[in-house]
Amino acid sequence: MAIVETVADAGDPYSGPDGGLAARPAGRGVDGFVHLQASGVGLVLDCRGVRLPRVLHWGRALPHTTDADLTALALASLPATVPNSLDTPAPVTIVPESATGWFGLPGLRGHRDGRHWSPLFEVEHVGVAHRAPEDGGEVTVLATDARCGLALELHLDLARSGVLRMRAALRNTASERYTLDGLVMALPVPAEATELLDFTGRWSRERIPQRRVFSAGAHVRDGRRGRTGSDAAFILVTGEEGFGFRSGQVWGVHVGWSGNHRTYAERLPTGESVVGGGELLRSGEVGLAPGAVYETPWVYAAHGDGLDEMAGRFHRQVRSRRTTPRPVIVNTWEAVYFDHDLDRLTALVDAAADVGAERFVLDDGWFRGRRDDRAGLGDWFVDETRWPRGLHPLVERVRARGMDFGLWVEPEMVNPDSDVARAHPDWIMATMGRLPPPVRHQQALDLRRPEAYQYILERLDALVSEYRIAFLKWDHNRDLVDADVHGQTRAVYRLMDELRARHPELEIESCSSGGARVDLGILERTDRVWASDCIDGVERQAIQRWTALLLPPELIGSHVGSARSHTTGRTQSLSLRAGTALFGHFGIEWDLTAATDDERAELRQWVSLYKRTREWTHRGTVVRADHPDPALWVHGIVSADRDQALFAVVAMATGARTQPGRVRIPGLDPHRRYRVHPLAPGDRPGTTAVAPNPWLAEGVVVTGQMLAEVGLSAPPLHPEQLLLLHLTKA
Ligand code: DGJ
Repeated sequence: MAIVETVADAGDPYSGPDGGLAARPAGRGVDGFVHLQASGVGLVLDCRGVRLPRVLHWGRALPHTTDADLTALALASLPATVPNSLDTPAPVTIVPESATGWFGLPGLRGHRDGRHWSPLFEVEHVGVAHRAPEDGGEVTVLATDARCGLALELHLDLARSGVLRMRAALRNTASERYTLDGLVMALPVPAEATELLDFTGRWSRERIPQRRVFSAGAHVRDGRRGRTGSDAAFILVTGEEGFGFRSGQVWGVHVGWSGNHRTYAERLPTGESVVGGGELLRSGEVGLAPGAVYETPWVYAAHGDGLDEMAGRFHRQVRSRRTTPRPVIVNTWEAVYFDHDLDRLTALVDAAADVGAERFVLDDGWFRGRRDDRAGLGDWFVDETRWPRGLHPLVERVRARGMDFGLWVEPEMVNPDSDVARAHPDWIMATMGRLPPPVRHQQALDLRRPEAYQYILERLDALVSEYRIAFLKWDHNRDLVDADVHGQTRAVYRLMDELRARHPELEIESCSSGGARVDLGILERTDRVWASDCIDGVERQAIQRWTALLLPPELIGSHVGSARSHTTGRTQSLSLRAGTALFGHFGIEWDLTAATDDERAELRQWVSLYKRTREWTHRGTVVRADHPDPALWVHGIVSADRDQALFAVVAMATGARTQPGRVRIPGLDPHRRYRVHPLAPGDRPGTTAVAPNPWLAEGVVVTGQMLAEVGLSAPPLHPEQLLLLHLTKA
């Protein structure tokens, strides 16, 4: 039977914390197929019978598909029965169940004192809320297993962006406690998905791509650091052989959770392949009392023809929040570190204002007892010895110079050498009375404790009110060891939500030893991420390239540092450093009082260029060309109306060729003509050429099609040189 019970209009997917889902009426609802489409993506669920829904298709949209076509698709998808296998092959469901004969990783793992470990759910109701046609919709599935005493509720939301997000809630309906070991969700991917891409990383070098063949077995990426982690899988992508930014179908999953998490891809010898994930629970971490409910985080899934299209869908999904222009930031960390001296900082405020900064952020070092990284965390009072009049003299100067004020905090942490730790040693997260090994001389504050939570909330609230703080850089500088990560992560989310409810205009940056907390869970309550402590231009090109697979550039904090990088020791041109920051949320982290007049003048030009272009770059489409020379990177942002674009051609290292040859510039309107010309203050090209490419002198007018299919002859560049190109509709 072909279906669809429209329960209600789903409305705006971002309208509420639960995506606008309301309780569904009892009864079966849908008994057939659910077909949702949005932004070129299609999702077909087979909801016939009592088993959990099966995904018949997740990928390119299937327009003009009728109910009869869906019935045919279901029939055409059925496999043969082969020797020595189940008489009826097990279809993979969103929460794969071993009881159906699924031999891969089960979706739900748990037990009741050794019993009820193999649930088999029966669907009681499926509700669908369509938005406008081809604008996605939401599906709610209610299922129970009376024998195991469990009820499962699944939510799927194909958002307008084309991103599919899924989450589940498990209720213990029996009268005894149920121990939950894990609940993950999975989506099938086709046989054409033969390669995997995911990420690893470390402090100062986050999101390093790793690629491999999608072979038989499970590729499981577990994050156990108590935070997202600089080595997180981030997005796990599977795709057609040789997929790149512009070509090859890809299917990516991301777990929107800032605690321990699992992301995986699995291929069975039977040919089925899935990608999925969820929260990673340690044994006994979640025990469900009778009637209690566990909710998973959202698992996000995006398809694309090429990584750029997949990323574009994630960007659309995330770009629903702040719409104000992203201000130019000056952050004090690499400028003064812990040397908080009012005169020195006042000079920095003036220098910041002179180059055009709009926000001044006072980093670590302002609170009681904080002279270095050994003491003070937890004592969130302005240090009276360094700041006898509080931060007021500094903040007043910041405002007088036309900037707003931001402050660094690390609310989840505590130094044993702090007043708060001395007064409340029991507030430190400890297992069986045993303190975890210290990292950076610090421990985690147990925010599950109401008194500790309340103290931190009140302190943050008081600081934000007293100094009219516009922006908190919210740091988290250690992995958690021996911790109740589930409870702590929930408490941190609650803390941020409550603070934001008290201060709706407050912006928060997610920082964690640089970029170790970049996920869509934290981004529901923060406004940008600090992608890395490394602001060396070359390293940052790579970190931003891959962070932008999930996040739009204006949510990725990117700062111009001093000529000599503090983390790599390399010395680089301002063109490379600022031309890299231009493609993110632009900021400066450099002791400008020590910069030369020429450097400041050039920096002013970069700031002005950022301000002139952010109106459209922050809403534009990110484009990365697949250039065959790994040493030459070509990337840019095309305005939403495709009237203009900004591209960078970056020599990441010396290349193997004498001439870079032609570089393609994709993503523009193939039917329009564009004037292409190098843009100052980007590096002047051709420094090694006897005669530069002739078109560089006056620019050239070419069609978008020529740019994408043929390209332009690129100038020879020195390693670490960045050429900026502006393309405008001719
Ligand atoms: C780690 C952050 O990533 C840095 O930017 C800086 O804020 C330091 N912490 C301060 O301790």
